Amino acid sequence: MPFTANRQFKADPRMLAGAKDMYYTALDGKQILDGTAGLWCVNAGHCRKEIAEAIASQAAHLDYAPGFQLGHPLAFEAATAVAGLMPAGMDRIFFTNSGSESVDTALKIALAYHRARGEGQRTRLIGRERGYHGVGFGGISVGGISGNRKTFSGALLPSVDHLPHTHNLEKNAFSKGQPAWGAHLADELERILALHDPSTVAAVIVEPMAGSTGVLIPPQGYLERLREITAKHGILLIFDEVITAYGRLGAATASEYFGVTPDLITMAKGVSNAAVPAGAVAVKRDVHDAIINAVNGGIEFFHGYTYSAHPLAAAAILATLDIYRRDNLFARARELAPVFEKAVHGLQGARHVIDVRNIGLVAGVELSPRDGAPGARAAEVFKKCFDAGVMVRYTGDILAISPPLIINEAQIAEIFDTIGKVLKEVA
Ligand SMILES: Cc1ncc(COP(=O)(O)O)c(C=O)c1O
Repeated sequence: MPFTANRQFKADPRMLAGAKDMYYTALDGKQILDGTAGLWCVNAGHCRKEIAEAIASQAAHLDYAPGFQLGHPLAFEAATAVAGLMPAGMDRIFFTNSGSESVDTALKIALAYHRARGEGQRTRLIGRERGYHGVGFGGISVGGISGNRKTFSGALLPSVDHLPHTHNLEKNAFSKGQPAWGAHLADELERILALHDPSTVAAVIVEPMAGSTGVLIPPQGYLERLREITAKHGILLIFDEVITAYGRLGAATASEYFGVTPDLITMAKGVSNAAVPAGAVAVKRDVHDAIINAVNGGIEFFHGYTYSAHPLAAAAILATLDIYRRDNLFARARELAPVFEKAVHGLQGARHVIDVRNIGLVAGVELSPRDGAPGARAAEVFKKCFDAGVMVRYTGDILAISPPLIINEAQIAEIFDTIGKVLKEVA
């Protein structure tokens, strides 16, 4: 099983049998309020009829179409729909099947772009400590999670460096929205560039809001500074928006929310409401054109997946984006964000809680670790919340809450009341 303690799971399994809107149904019939949108992906809520119908009808109509030297109209319609939600000018779309594939695709596009422009010496990639960019070799190389890297350390990509992470409880504990302290950490990029020579660097990749390592929210001014420095040195900036795209912060993308436009955006998860595995990379037109125009006939970009723009994924994407637009779900997330913020900050002062942080419809609740057993306390909270009918997520000793954007105020209260009660019971 992926990222699972297999033996513990087998001894004490938690199995899901069904889902509808805000709820999972466990195998024993119990209703579980989904506080995590599955794995940060079911933004429109579960089993939406229109998406299910679009997938079913597509499966009966054109189940599969090869994407190499062939196409199908829905792929281009889906690309246009995705492009319509990206920042202006980022309207070239490459389809993948997952966040990990989107990341590796984006890194390859960055290398291809520089090579096409006669700057093939730009091969270095800069990620960030505590970054999560999936599990491909590219993603774990630029990623900053030691547990995901150490077993494979001998085979990671060469020529990778990392920015420092931005998490600092001494300075920023109990921040609401973007913390005030930490913009200067982006200046570390100048130091890293001076060390390696900026003309060897292809791209910087960061999550605008780091989700998987515990909801690390960018300090005010930090992303702007990264944008300035990368632009100054001709380095591409990649925002990994696998979690943040499609409404999580109350806008179509984190780029839009923060007002900082990168050169490439990676996405997955919410793009299809997770109903069919799907991902994509959005690319600025000049980056795209440089790659395409460098080749006189023939294949311009030696990359792609059997299931890139799979018809079922394209159908799911179109139906999903329709729901986001029709139900105004990004605006809904924005409007609910203050209610969500108030509810999560109600946990300040609760037992074990050393930080609460939030932005849009995402929150992190950091617990003090048990002596000698990091992660054990949060794992217990996760299990007890599940038993009490609320799904939360944990990473290390940080609880992460990121519900579907269709959540209502009573359900927000239920999530945080349940966490509060469980915290009282957990040693
Ligand atoms: C920022 C980010 N990038 C990449 C990924 C990997 O996505 P996937 O699991 O679909 O490969 C994730 C997954 O959570 C993510 O949060």
